[in-house]
Amino acid sequence: MRRFVIACAASLALATPGTAQQAADAVAPETATEGVFAPASPAVAAALAAKREGRPVMARDWMIAAANPHAAEAGAAILADGGSAADAMVAAQAVLGLVEPQSSGLGGGAFLVWYDAASGKLTTLDGRETAPLAATPTLFQDNTGEPLGFYDAVVGGRSVGTPGTPALMAEAHRRWGRSAWSTLFDGAIALAEGGFSVSPRLAGLVTRDADRLARFPATAAYFLPGGQPVTAGQALTNPAYADTLRQLASKGAEAFYSGPIATDIARTVQSAAGNPGVLSQVDLSLYQVRERPPACVSYRAHEVCGMGPPSSGALTVGQILGMLDTRPLPGPQDPEAWRLIGDASRLAFADRGRYMADADFVPMPTKGLIDPAYLAARAELLRGDDALPEVAPGKPEFDHARNWADDEAIEFPSTSHITIVDRFGNVLSMTTTIENAFGSRLMVRGFLLNNELTDFSFRSHRDGVPIANRVEPGKRPRSSMAPTIVMEDGRPVLALGSPGGSRIIGYVAQALIAWLDWGLDVQQVVSQPHAVNRFGTYDLEAGTPAEALQAPLQALGYEVTLRDLNSGLHAIEIGETLRGGADPRREGIALGR
Ligand code: GLY
Repeated sequence: MRRFVIACAASLALATPGTAQQAADAVAPETATEGVFAPASPAVAAALAAKREGRPVMARDWMIAAANPHAAEAGAAILADGGSAADAMVAAQAVLGLVEPQSSGLGGGAFLVWYDAASGKLTTLDGRETAPLAATPTLFQDNTGEPLGFYDAVVGGRSVGTPGTPALMAEAHRRWGRSAWSTLFDGAIALAEGGFSVSPRLAGLVTRDADRLARFPATAAYFLPGGQPVTAGQALTNPAYADTLRQLASKGAEAFYSGPIATDIARTVQSAAGNPGVLSQVDLSLYQVRERPPACVSYRAHEVCGMGPPSSGALTVGQILGMLDTRPLPGPQDPEAWRLIGDASRLAFADRGRYMADADFVPMPTKGLIDPAYLAARAELLRGDDALPEVAPGKPEFDHARNWADDEAIEFPSTSHITIVDRFGNVLSMTTTIENAFGSRLMVRGFLLNNELTDFSFRSHRDGVPIANRVEPGKRPRSSMAPTIVMEDGRPVLALGSPGGSRIIGYVAQALIAWLDWGLDVQQVVSQPHAVNRFGTYDLEAGTPAEALQAPLQALGYEVTLRDLNSGLHAIEIGETLRGGADPRREGIALGR
């Protein structure tokens, strides 16, 4: 039996988010999305219909799920031509940087989990941004040592880390590509030159962020032509981006990290009006993708594997699942399930805030944090009936004796996720970001620069004790991104991931529980209403059946808020048939053949 089912029928009542979130979030509903992508190809139309009707997309040979139909189509074209999942990722990422520029792109970073069908091995690539060599631990403090306001830090050059996405695209292609690199940008170049339809989501976010986008001339000229926000359905061209892609296509990623593009990036960061940064051409020339071992935990007789440090994603998801693996979980309509998930999450977030950071820079109890004996001991704290009155970090086994103070990094949701299975059986799960929506708001040669450095703690110490995730030159800011591949008996059976800042951890953990415990199919998994606890309030997705949990969770002692919860889960279930699910909160689809 592949997985056990506790409450399949009961869970269906929780499977469809309502529209309140979409309205409140200024993101147009799905019908508008379909209109904008008309005339859609038959495959895109069928994928949009499947999503609207809550059905998974099914395929036999290959599949891609991504956050925008143009991006999914670009990846699908490569897969249909015999390309690998790595090739399709390059094509899809190039298009995402054009049509969903607020979320990811060449100016950002990404983490990639890869299952290699030929060797049967899993590996991860770290394309996270790095802090410039000239950055100091006080980067986000004022001259009295107090943390800057979030947007005072974000908007401008100060927050920009050395981008990793172009190098990650090149490294994935070097290792696993089958198609010619130079051809992988054709789809994105054609859209950038021929024009693409501005999506409702992009238009809504431009309107919401117009004041910040207006601060920098190149950004304003693109997103606010003539002083007005671009509108949904408007055809938008980006010739500067097409030119950048042509240079990448002909010269490889080196074209990004040295020469005129690198010069322009450094100049734009260092001359950002009102908030210059310190990123230099030397930082760009030194950038390297790192291969890391996957971080895996056992859950319900599966191995759940993802990205270790500098991401906290797999370790925190792994801690939650590892604690819950010590007992059966009731169905999703039982508040007891949410007590267990909520308190396991609070315990895991306490450890995350204390211990997790870039392990190349700070000693980290990476193994200790997901050690089954440690997690079983932490799970003993879940024995009661009510919400834990207090939650504190545990004491995982440490290779080094070291005390850290608790972190206070602020993470806002933007980001995107791509999941791909190719005809050779390779599986790719990649979460990709420029951090905040529109990143630093600085635009160079048709793409936006990230604000990833604000994922560091703004404070460097607390009561004289250093914070693990403080800024240091060359260091990678702690992430929550959790691209995941689930293995059963050594074979991949599910791949997924999500945007959402530090709520990514809750979205991904809940999706895995829904699939492994509650027996939901992949579309139900990504559609289910969210209930997320990050070590504070219990956040329930407004306008959905999750609101029914409010009173019972309050009775257990939680402080509960109803709010919009924007995920962007993209999942593929891998069996005899491939089944894909795309989050109805975003504009994406799954496409396959
Ligand atoms: N910037 C979002 C994350 O890395 O988690």
